[in-house]
This record gives sequence, C-alpha cells and structure tokens, in this order.
Amino acid sequence: MATTPILEVRGLKVDIPLPDTVLHPVRHVDLTVMPGETVAVVGESGCGKSLTALAIMGLLPRNARPVSERIALKGESLTGASRRRWRQLRGDRIAMIFQDPMTALDPCYRIGDQMREILQQHRRVSKAEARERSLELLGKVGIPAPAERLSQFPHQLSGGLRQRVMIAMALLCEPELIIADEPTTALDVTIQAQILRLLRNIQRETGIGLVLITHDLGVVAGMADRIVVMYGGEVMEVGSCDQVLGKPLHPYTEGLMRSIPVPGETRRGETLGFIPGVVPRQTGERTRCGFIERCPYAHDDCAKGPIALREAGDGHQMRCVLPTDGSGRDPSAWLRGAEAS
Ligand SMILES: Nc1ncnc2c1ncn2[C@@H]1O[C@H](COP(=O)(O)OP(=O)(O)O)[C@@H](O)[C@H]1O
Ligand SMILES: [Mg+2]
Repeated sequence: MATTPILEVRGLKVDIPLPDTVLHPVRHVDLTVMPGETVAVVGESGCGKSLTALAIMGLLPRNARPVSERIALKGESLTGASRRRWRQLRGDRIAMIFQDPMTALDPCYRIGDQMREILQQHRRVSKAEARERSLELLGKVGIPAPAERLSQFPHQLSGGLRQRVMIAMALLCEPELIIADEPTTALDVTIQAQILRLLRNIQRETGIGLVLITHDLGVVAGMADRIVVMYGGEVMEVGSCDQVLGKPLHPYTEGLMRSIPVPGETRRGETLGFIPGVVPRQTGERTRCGFIERCPYAHDDCAKGPIALREAGDGHQMRCVLPTDGSGRDPSAWLRGAEAS
C-alpha cells in the first residue's frame, strides 16, 4: 500500500490584488513531503517561498488570495478549512520556525510562560507538567542551564539561543510537519551550521516531515532528501538532492549552483558566478518561460508558450525546453550574460 504523504500540496496559487494590478507571486506549486523526509525549497528572495509556506500554515497576509486544488495533512484536506481549524493545527500538528525568532517570541513574556501557553493551547497539562516538558525540550535542543532560561525574557538570549528556543517550541506538541523558513539566515556561519545540524538530527530521530526554505542552495547539501527549486512563483526543478546538486538541469538551478563557493576550488577574492538581473514582479498570466529574461540559453522555443514541468528520468523534473540529458548548453554563455549586465 502506498504511504500517505504528511503534506500534499497541489496547484497552489496565491494572488495579491494591488490598486493597479494583480500580483501572482505563487503560480501553481505542487509539493509533497513524505514521512521522515526533508524537502528543501530553494530560490532567490522574492520567488514566492514564504508565501507558499504561509499558505500551507493558513497564515497568509490579509490581502492575499490563495487557491489550491489540494492541501492535505496526512490525508486530511485543508482546502477551505476554517480559521478555527487552522488555529488548532498550528503549533500542534504543523509548526513553523521563522528567520527572526523575535517575530514569533513575545518580548514581554518569559520563555517558560510562552512555552507553557503553547502546550496548554493544545494539551491538557498542569503547570508542573508543562515545565517538565519545556525543560526536556530546551535540553534536547542543546540549551545550557535550561531551568534558568525558563525565567528569562527573549532579549536576554543570543540569536542562536533564541533560534534553539524556537525549535524547542516547535517540537512541544510533537508536530508531524515543521516548516522552517530561512531558519538560519540571520545567524553567523558557525551558529548556522550548528542549528542546521540540530534540525536535521531531530528530524531524523523523530521522523517529522521538514520543509526547509532557503535562498542558499549551499546549505541544503547534507540536509535535504529532495530539493524543490522555485523561481517567479513556479517550481522550476524537483529531484533528489543527488539529482539536483549532482546534475542540475534547469538553467536557473545551474545559476544558483554557480553562486556557491566550492571549498578547495574557489579562490579567495575570486568573483563567484551569479545570475544577472533580478526576479521580475509577477503580474499577468504566463505566456512564455518565466526565466526567459535572465536565461543565458534562451531561444525562440522559450517564448512560444508557458513551459510545463516535465520528467527527466527517475522522478527528476524540470520546467525547461532544453534536452533533459543536460546537453545543448554552452556554459560560457553565463559569462557573456554577466558582462552584458
Ligand atoms: N502582503 C504582500 N503584499 C504585496 N506583495 C507581497 C506581499 N507579500 C509578499 N509579496 C510579494 O510577493 C513576492 C513573493 O514573496 P515571498 O513569498 O515573501 O518571497 P520569498 O520568500 O521567496 O523571498 C515578492 O515579490 C513580494 O514582494
Ligand atoms: Mg521569504
């Protein structure tokens, strides 16, 4: 029997009406997370990653209009679920970790009180039980002297510790799914690596499904089982970590890879390859490839209509008209593009 995915998202669209136009920041996103799987969602800033996450959490900004064919948590459809149902699920079965813990932590309340409140929102627990569970989790996420932390306020902790507290809070009710949106972007590189390792270990140990959102393709190696590459509100490439990092097929993925320093190969001071241009504002229906303006390999076929996601073998998929075996590309085209911009 086929296993039920923890998360199944099909045909997710988010529209944002503005006075002069309608934005389409998320255009048609499919996302599946199997039990125990870490799926990384990668793309530059402005590609629609956070709005996708917020739609899955029922937390979109008021002016956003979501439409989906299906959003299901362990088989339970959440399409059109009430605000009340979302509130029940959030913190309990789905938890979210944000880039800036200060947006999620209340500066006026002690860590212990905030953790107890989350627990008591979803479980019937006494004060003593809540304290015990909070201590257990602060210990699990590697916070020294957890008992002292319970009586501290968020501003008394370092950024790294605050992020660990956020992870402990996310784990309080044993969720089935954690969505971490740029969880380490605000931290320095060493702390970033520690937090990512912590998340990965907890995810492996508990079998929680993890959606890891990041603009940095460099952090997903060793973390993710599968990678979803987003650009302009669309999924441009999906595959296992080995497929996408080992043989990136979409020119956008290739561009992201060129922006990662390679230890031992990239010399100090050397300019990294980058993708010329910026993510355009997403208005109007797709009439051609969404990456056409910035693609070094763009040709006539790319403008003939919207490009469909297609199979490149073994579940590796790409939204591009180039041959699926990776041939037909001249890498020096990237250099010409960079010079022209
Ligand atoms: N509340 C909003 N009102 C108008 N535009 C928004 C709003 N939220 C996000 N956007 C726009 O939608 C696009 C995608 O945003 P987001 O999902 O936050 O991107 P990412 O997380 O990939 O950086 C961006 O261009 C952003 O400016
Ligand atoms: Mg974001």
